[in-house]
Amino acid sequence: PPILDLAVVAGDGIGTEVVEQGLLVLEQALHGTGTTVRTTDFDLGARRWHTTGQTLTDEDLAAIRTHHAILLGAIGDPTVPSGVLERGLLLKLRFALDHYVNLRPGKLFPGVRSPLANPGDVDFVVVREGTEGPYVGNGGAIRVGTPAEVANEVSVNTAFGVERVVRDAFARAAARPRKKLTLVHKHNVLVHAGHLWRRTVEAVNAEFPDVTVDYLHVDAATIFLVTDPARFDVIVTDNLFGDILTDLAAAITGGIGLAASANINPDRTAPSMFEPVHGSAPDIAGQGKADPTATVLSVAMLLDHVGLPDAARAVEGAVAADLAERGAAERVRSTAEVGKDLAARVAG
Ligand code: IPM
Ligand code: MN
Repeated sequence: PPILDLAVVAGDGIGTEVVEQGLLVLEQALHGTGTTVRTTDFDLGARRWHTTGQTLTDEDLAAIRTHHAILLGAIGDPTVPSGVLERGLLLKLRFALDHYVNLRPGKLFPGVRSPLANPGDVDFVVVREGTEGPYVGNGGAIRVGTPAEVANEVSVNTAFGVERVVRDAFARAAARPRKKLTLVHKHNVLVHAGHLWRRTVEAVNAEFPDVTVDYLHVDAATIFLVTDPARFDVIVTDNLFGDILTDLAAAITGGIGLAASANINPDRTAPSMFEPVHGSAPDIAGQGKADPTATVLSVAMLLDHVGLPDAARAVEGAVAADLAERGAAERVRSTAEVGKDLAARVAG
């Protein structure tokens, strides 16, 4: 589009700091593409909740819907009870806007140190289902606080929901050189959902005969992510397993300071949302210490989504070059310095 209408939810803690740099790099990447960005800031997060008691109103949601995409920094603060902003804001956005593909790359850039001694060539992507599983809030508790308490969290898996994310994962695998898809679940214990996922993968495989499929139970997948992460190409999994595996994926590829993500609505019935995997990091907020790289890589995913792949590659290239030189740097740069350096590299 000639004008990219971007909803910005900077959020809490370091969210505002990293988003500022992400926008700087985005503007630079758009230079010469014929597209300019027009941002609308949404005041959402801990401050808004404290002053109004609101997390995300229908009006907020309607306004956000009018944009092409959303850039989100981080949500959460220790002064807000656990679950209020997560459920009422972040997950509400993902569910309401039908972000059923939560795309999280696990890529070890050259020059980045992994805690693994011999990680090999790590370059996979996790397709985490984003609208179902235990995240739907289908559960409840009785006799709370008594010795007889029962607390249930029900994982919801629909044929419709599983099939659409599995099909998306197959398409992504088919477009990659190795064409390999790994389903991660736990069908030896979670037999109902597990078998639905397994049958769905088997059925959709018929549409993508050149994609090789394998299966790992989630516990075994955590072993291989540490002992042989280079074996993975595309991983498809449910919402909760995907949440856990992508933190592990971030840890082995240089940490959450580098981990990007995209909450995608592939049908484009609502804007997709791009956010770093990390949280608001209240311990370092306001100190200019946060690494904006995860946000900048999320901006690259945004550019791909809105049909500007060349700009996306320019941003990725800038990050790759920056990361390659970090080992030799004599000091750690501030958030703003990293953003400025990345923008300068994008400018060429
Ligand atoms: C993430 C986060 C969220 C999730 C939380 C904050 C609700 O951990 O984006 O991975 O569990 O999805
Ligand atoms: Mn997480």
